Amino acid sequence: PETIGIIGAMDEEVELLLAGMKNAETVDKAGIRYYKGTYQHQDIVVCKSGVGKVNAAVTTQILIDSLGVSKVLFTGVAGAVHPELNIGDIVISSECLQHDMDVTALGFERGVIPYQEVSVFQADPALVALAEKACGELGEVNCRVGRVLSGDQFIASVEQVNWFYEHLQGACVEMEGASVAQVCYMNRVPFVIIRSMSDKADGSAHANFAEFTVASSRRSHAILDYMLSHI
Ligand code: ADE
Repeated sequence: PETIGIIGAMDEEVELLLAGMKNAETVDKAGIRYYKGTYQHQDIVVCKSGVGKVNAAVTTQILIDSLGVSKVLFTGVAGAVHPELNIGDIVISSECLQHDMDVTALGFERGVIPYQEVSVFQADPALVALAEKACGELGEVNCRVGRVLSGDQFIASVEQVNWFYEHLQGACVEMEGASVAQVCYMNRVPFVIIRSMSDKADGSAHANFAEFTVASSRRSHAILDYMLSHI
């Protein structure tokens, strides 16, 4: 039987999964704690990667090499880029791109990783379809399948958001997804990224981020719960 790797961006997401896990054992590697056990008869490994592309890449490679996972799911929050997205809406990755990969000085297009065939990493269609179905089960939640942009920057500018939408065709922006995606691509492991919109990446203040985090963690847990029982 296969093992599903789940990376949560927030403590609350990991805790909700842990509460439903039987026989969770812990493995510590490179400063990250991995919880290995079963959830609804499904073998899973749950962890929190920490912020940014390097943390996400190392965590994903360890999940694959040391914990033996054959699929990777990532949940967390993101800044909305697509103009029709509002705070609380969900983006499911069709594909991922690193927006901060910039070798334009040598004539490469923004986001293109030089001297390699692929810079846009495709999520697994079956996992995307399952995530969509899970969102449908939630009811009253606006969900969009689209391109996830990732970079080691918290985006807080309307100009940048507009550029990301027009030139990079992004649906949302965050700091880990495309890194997870590239590592999964390099290892031929299927993945999907699921993000709740916490802000519009325009620098506008969000008064109750803590409250939002609790609500969005509950929702991503509900999505994962559905996916793990139908995978
Ligand atoms: N995660 C949540 N909001 C974000 C933003 N505006 N930029 C990058 N990552 C984010």
